[in-house]
Amino acid sequence: MELTCLLVKPDGVADAHIGEIVAKVEREGFTVRGLRLLVLTRSHAEAFYAIHHGRPFFEDLVEYMTGGPIVALALEREDAVSHLRTVIGATNPAEAAEGTIRALYGRDIGTNTVHGSDSVENGIREALFFFSERELAESGTVI
Ligand code: RTP
Ligand code: MG
Repeated sequence: MELTCLLVKPDGVADAHIGEIVAKVEREGFTVRGLRLLVLTRSHAEAFYAIHHGRPFFEDLVEYMTGGPIVALALEREDAVSHLRTVIGATNPAEAAEGTIRALYGRDIGTNTVHGSDSVENGIREALFFFSERELAESGTVI
């Protein structure tokens, strides 16, 4: 089993797609091990996306991610990280494969409805960003 982190970004929450996105990942065989609605502070958003610090889109990304509530999920499945990336689709919704979350709901390359962890290591790190080890263990997560 592998752990990954899915975020429903502020546009996904504002456009009322939480339920459809959760239903879709459950249909894809993911087990929900953590689920929380929250508003990211600026310092939390900067820390979460620290890898993109200095990129031209960084400031816009932080503004966007702190602009309204998000939903954070810890998801477990075999091959969770790469399968979730497939279910999410390409960063730019215009290039995302048909039926993927970003193709269905994304507005543009910046405002693309969801985030998915990009490596097994980051899947664990990002799940622990939103949920404590105790919470994950009590929900049955195998790390
Ligand atoms: P994510 O981390 O959110 O799952 O997205 P990703 O791996 O597909 O894309 P990444 O390169 O990690 O970029 C993170 C997020 O930054 C915004 N972005 N804007 N305007 C732009 O050119 C641009 N490029 C990236 C998007 O919100 C992207 O998901
Ligand atoms: Mg990324």
